[in-house]
Amino acid sequence: MTAPNSPNSQVTHRVDRDLETFLQQGPYVGYCYSYPHKTAYRNLPARSLEDVWRDEPQDSLFLYVHVPFCEFRCGFCNLFTLSQPDADLPRDWLAAFQREATVLREQLPDASFGQIAIGGGTPTYLNGSELESLFTTLNEVLRVSGQRLPVSMEVSPATVDAAKLKQMKDFGVDRVSMGVQSFDGKDVGAMGRPQDLATVMGSIEQIKKLDFPIMNLDLIYGASGQTADSWLDSVERTIDCDPEEVYLYPLYVRELTGLSRRRKASPVQDRHRLDLYHAGRDRLLQRGYQQVSMRMFRKPLPSSSHKSDYRCQEDAMVGLGCGSRSYTGKLHYGSRYGVRQRAISAIVQHYVGQSEDELANVEFGIELDENEIRRRHLILSLFLTEGMCEQEYQQRFGQSVLDDFPQLSQLLELGFAVRTDDRLTLTQKGIAWSDSIGPWLYGAEVRQRMEGYSWDSA
Ligand SMILES: C[S@@+](CC[C@H](N)C(=O)[O-])C[C@H]1O[C@@H](n2cnc3c(N)ncnc32)[C@H](O)[C@@H]1O
Ligand code: SF4
Repeated sequence: MTAPNSPNSQVTHRVDRDLETFLQQGPYVGYCYSYPHKTAYRNLPARSLEDVWRDEPQDSLFLYVHVPFCEFRCGFCNLFTLSQPDADLPRDWLAAFQREATVLREQLPDASFGQIAIGGGTPTYLNGSELESLFTTLNEVLRVSGQRLPVSMEVSPATVDAAKLKQMKDFGVDRVSMGVQSFDGKDVGAMGRPQDLATVMGSIEQIKKLDFPIMNLDLIYGASGQTADSWLDSVERTIDCDPEEVYLYPLYVRELTGLSRRRKASPVQDRHRLDLYHAGRDRLLQRGYQQVSMRMFRKPLPSSSHKSDYRCQEDAMVGLGCGSRSYTGKLHYGSRYGVRQRAISAIVQHYVGQSEDELANVEFGIELDENEIRRRHLILSLFLTEGMCEQEYQQRFGQSVLDDFPQLSQLLELGFAVRTDDRLTLTQKGIAWSDSIGPWLYGAEVRQRMEGYSWDSA
């Protein structure tokens, strides 16, 4: 029997989403690292944090801290970040961050955290004393110990140095993730990222000296003029640095970015990106890396890591620092979104001016109905190379994933996925086309909201 709000009631969504037709848009429709996308968020009636989290499990939450500052604005990047903010702004932001953490502690006194990620932007844009203040707030206000929990932190080559890395190490950071994008000067230039090779190499050397358990390096492929040789040279140089993890990102020219203004005449080519993806992937696999998803590769890790006994909830996240998002089981919320410096600056200024009472309110986001909760589970697990466990889905939702989403049979028929034992797994072709299969699976209302998002004010 079909429950009234079961995905089975959404027949019309299935019929007009023929996979073959959809994929004619090419393999790069959009990156769905989370679902729903933040352009689907809208104003909500104000509720307190306490109210929002009342019936939610609050143990072992994922804590995400978003630091919205960078040294420069890369031509490809639409992340929520300000380049070269006014000198006083980081200090004011840190004061607001401390108020926000205090409010969180008061409103969710029993919350505990299982994992921390500090991202942005570029957290190491903060100077030494500002970084110390950030870590002190985490330690003393939120009472989270980086020494006991897995902590990941993003850095950029030009903003990280030995002293900051030592502070990170002392706090307990175990995964350092740095954007390199390319080791080729022409290629990074074509991406609109000012960067010199000596700085990149110096930073990598410093990271390695401190012996963090995981170093991750990001690369981007598909820049205008990038050749297979220059791409593979970057992949090789990355491997030579011996990182535990590597992310290979296809270049997206996103709205309102520097490249979107610059590159109208020569759009990135799908075929070019697909060829470079295969070349980069093959090279990493030959050199012993394992593929975790379309973008993520890692060295086989020793099974016992010193913090491995901490298990984080899979799908509940508390975000701090404007630009972050938070997820309860049924509600996703965050600050408003912007891309232009003017829009981001207004949002950050609003944040730094907020009182504790104001910071206690949730007023922007999206509510997930049962259909969307199931869809999110599917989308988050299907794009991992290990695939999704059908039994786990059945146990969580009381129904089979193929009954809930019969359109998945199209993936099987067209060779994008296979069913083995109780797993639904993308094939190599399916993994390569993740960025189109993901958007194909978006729910109709989420799609409508994303299409209705007003970029004029972003
Ligand atoms: C927060 S940044 C990484 C840390 C740091 N800010 C830096 O740039 O070194 C996240 C990563 O997303 C990737 N990225 C961002 N925008 C992208 C785009 N439009 N196309 C492809 N990759 C992108 C880049 O590889 C970037 O390193
Ligand atoms: S890629 Fe990194 S450094 Fe460049 S603007 Fe985006 S967040 Fe900042």
